[in-house]
Amino acid sequence: MKKLAILGSTGSIGQSTLSIVEQFPDRYSVTSVACGRNVDQAFAQAVRWRPKLISIATEELACRLSARLHQAGIAGIDVVHGTEGTVAVSTHAEADFVVSAIVGVAGLEATHAAILAGKPVGLANKECMVAAGEILTAAARQCNVPILPIDSEHNAVHQCLRVGAHKEVKAIWLTASGGPFRKTPLADFAAITPAQALKHPTWVMGRRITIDSATMLNKGLEIIEACRLFDVSPSQVRVIVHPQSTVHSLVEYVDGSILAQISVTDMCLPILYALAYPERPASTLTFDLAALRHLEFEEPDFERFPCLRLAFEAADKGGAHTIALNAADEIAVEAFLDGRIPFMGIPRTIEKVLASTVEAHPTTIGQVLAADREARQRANAFVDS
Ligand SMILES: NC(=O)c1ccc[n+]([C@@H]2O[C@H](COP(=O)([O-])OP(=O)(O)OC[C@H]3O[C@@H](n4cnc5c(N)ncnc54)[C@H](OP(=O)(O)O)[C@@H]3O)[C@@H](O)[C@H]2O)c1
Repeated sequence: MKKLAILGSTGSIGQSTLSIVEQFPDRYSVTSVACGRNVDQAFAQAVRWRPKLISIATEELACRLSARLHQAGIAGIDVVHGTEGTVAVSTHAEADFVVSAIVGVAGLEATHAAILAGKPVGLANKECMVAAGEILTAAARQCNVPILPIDSEHNAVHQCLRVGAHKEVKAIWLTASGGPFRKTPLADFAAITPAQALKHPTWVMGRRITIDSATMLNKGLEIIEACRLFDVSPSQVRVIVHPQSTVHSLVEYVDGSILAQISVTDMCLPILYALAYPERPASTLTFDLAALRHLEFEEPDFERFPCLRLAFEAADKGGAHTIALNAADEIAVEAFLDGRIPFMGIPRTIEKVLASTVEAHPTTIGQVLAADREARQRANAFVDS
């Protein structure tokens, strides 16, 4: 029985993880969970899963959750809050696998602490790999802790890499659906609304990653994530638009072979892969190959999606630039969703923040978070100007 700590239990990935636990009760149980502001769902999860520990974003929310548990006569669940709370969840003595699925750098300290505590990590939270990938992968190597990608593209790459040696890899091909605006005339981009951008053609996900998919900054974050997870240079990572999202990614080897991973468009599969690795449990997540009619692949349009170019530039510089890329995007996406900037204001904000970023390579999580805060301040200033 693998006992799970789930960071971001109330989110899209967190809920899919719980649905895997539901389907495999003999394999997995829930020891501790961390969430943000959703008290109702945290309460429902406490009732259903009876974890030993729950963390929620603030002290006030923790008091509300504790009171509800008390009123319902549920005892034996400790309720904690804030960053210290997420760290307590990810390092819980009984947890033997951590699913890292908090959105943004809010999940960074808990993910780092889990690695230092020797817990294998299933990583969905790509932003923490973008902000602090060098530190996280160094810690994982030092502590001999596996980081298993849950992001579907990196999960696919992980699977394709199992058949070859690192020195035989020529390129990693990340597939991108192209989002809802792949065919929208460039002239119409100025009028794109949050409601339009929140409609992803193939995946149902949280709000930030959905907007990031519409700008293709999500693919940009994934380029950086791939470099760090698989120890390759940005020039070895290619992006290819594949609107069906059937091939989840590919690895090209030096002999000319290209290996692809195909499966249903359901995050439960990469989550199950990460939880069960190196085993492959039988599942109901089957793919109807006979129904597959066509697979399209096309070059990405860097003019339509400037975020891709910005991400490659940040990936080449690394350190402070990748931190700034992520921080600026998080601020810009919030501003777009609040109606304070237009859709193309997102790449413009990121570009300005990157242009004013001084090259630096933080070596501690504290330094990463300081650089993140400073980049957010600059992004907020650009958004408000
Ligand atoms: N969804 C996907 O298909 C998918 C695919 C690949 C990668 N990912 C990555 O997985 C991560 C999660 O994505 P998602 O789509 O699941 O996002 P989501 O649905 O927005 O969920 C985010 C989770 O983070 C929690 N959270 C937010 N701020 C927090 C804080 N300060 N402290 C503790 N918890 C906090 C939220 O809690 P509340 O809801 O309670 O506020 C929620 O549980 C992201 O990094 C994303 O890029 C997602």
